[in-house]
Amino acid sequence: MTMKFIVKTYGCQMNVADSELIISILQKSGFSSTDKIEEADIIIFNTCSVRENAESRVIGRISNEVSRKTTNKDLLIGIVGCMAQRLGDELKKINKKIDFIVGVDQYSKLPEIIEVSRQKVAVETTFNTTEIYENLFPTRSNNLNAFVTIMRGCNNFCTYCIVPYTRGRERSRSVTEIYNEIEQAGREGLKDVTLLGQNVNSYLYIDYPENISQRALNSYNYQLDEMPMGERYDFADLLRKVNEIKDIKRLRFITSHPKDLSDKLINTMAECDKVCEHIHLPLQSGNNEVLQKMNRNYTIDHYMSLIHKLRSAMPNIAITTDIIAGFPGETEEQFDQTLQIVRAVQFDFAFMFKYSERSGTKACDFPDTVPEKVRLERLQRLIDLQTEITTLKYKQRIGNIEEVYVECQSKRESREMSGKTRDFKITVFEGDDSLIGKFVNVKITDAVGWTLKGEIVQCET
Ligand code: 5AD
Ligand code: SF4
Repeated sequence: MTMKFIVKTYGCQMNVADSELIISILQKSGFSSTDKIEEADIIIFNTCSVRENAESRVIGRISNEVSRKTTNKDLLIGIVGCMAQRLGDELKKINKKIDFIVGVDQYSKLPEIIEVSRQKVAVETTFNTTEIYENLFPTRSNNLNAFVTIMRGCNNFCTYCIVPYTRGRERSRSVTEIYNEIEQAGREGLKDVTLLGQNVNSYLYIDYPENISQRALNSYNYQLDEMPMGERYDFADLLRKVNEIKDIKRLRFITSHPKDLSDKLINTMAECDKVCEHIHLPLQSGNNEVLQKMNRNYTIDHYMSLIHKLRSAMPNIAITTDIIAGFPGETEEQFDQTLQIVRAVQFDFAFMFKYSERSGTKACDFPDTVPEKVRLERLQRLIDLQTEITTLKYKQRIGNIEEVYVECQSKRESREMSGKTRDFKITVFEGDDSLIGKFVNVKITDAVGWTLKGEIVQCET
């Protein structure tokens, strides 16, 4: 009888994409995937470490699910992803019922590890600096949006961030692999593609003559001028190339680092018809001193010049961001500058966080930590301001006709469908299931919170 597994995904889109890879790896080895947890013989948690509450949430969830072992003695529980990478063996102590712990570069070994874990707890968290999961087509978890990993890892070491420690150094997948994967997604009917990487702007792939192994080169830290000859693709080149894929209608990407966002990329975005008018450009702080302590490698002047260039090239571009409140040493004046920049930029939307200590990162040892109460209070002020801006920005859309890619039934109202505009705004309107996967034109009649409301004026033919 085939073993059934379920993958529960936490954290960022990169984890969503990794879960699709894991499903594909296990299916190839004869396991079958289920979405009913009570049917599963193996429960895999794909976890996130970016903030403390992301970890505590998953630890709580694991303790709930291990109780299933009392009725199903053969049930296996596995932890993969950033938390598995960060904590490794320690997880065994946190929950004695865990059967396997597998880090982000070892998913190909999952079928063997699962076998071993029937006898004893199996832990495999070795880094593999060249692992990019070549020649694997992920099993898509939905048939509308494809999340396509173009690079793995991060070299930036922002001082608050655990990701470089859990996901290792940057490595880019080949243009051909990415192109083929997107073409296949297009053939399967997915029309919306998001290219993923911790910092997509530093994507770099060099297509060497066949006799030089890309793997060997990837594992080497070459200076660019020492590189052997080969065709060089940066992120803008990749974007232009995948823009040619005919079945795909929309392209977007996350995440961009302001230090690496080039003029060439801005022009490419403006020129490529499928690239949506949306960029996620994390600000983190509005104060230069704080940015420096965060090791972000840009100034506010630079950030503002990017905003200006983006809006000059694409007047209707939506700009979203990430901001941290209460980084160690952040003064009231410095935080006020963040509020000022938020007011000046007028982001469409922001993910806002209070600073969370991550052991092993540099900032964790910084003095002058901001008291929890102040972090929370600053976060609330930030959220209040951004909510005001988002509401205003959304209200400005009333009267517009927007192209919406229909994705699902609205959560609130079964007669309503929900989808997204090209600039990533959730839009609901009256309609039925038959519209899912179609592009419709919607006249915006209202804006409620972070949702646009409207009525269909034209369906895709
Ligand atoms: N504390 C709070 N927020 C963090 N982020 C990353 N690390 C931390 C941390 N230690 C936020 C950043 C990043 C987003 C994905 O998560 O804003 O852009
Ligand atoms: Fe973390 Fe900075 Fe890398 Fe983003 S760029 S993953 S915030 S270290």
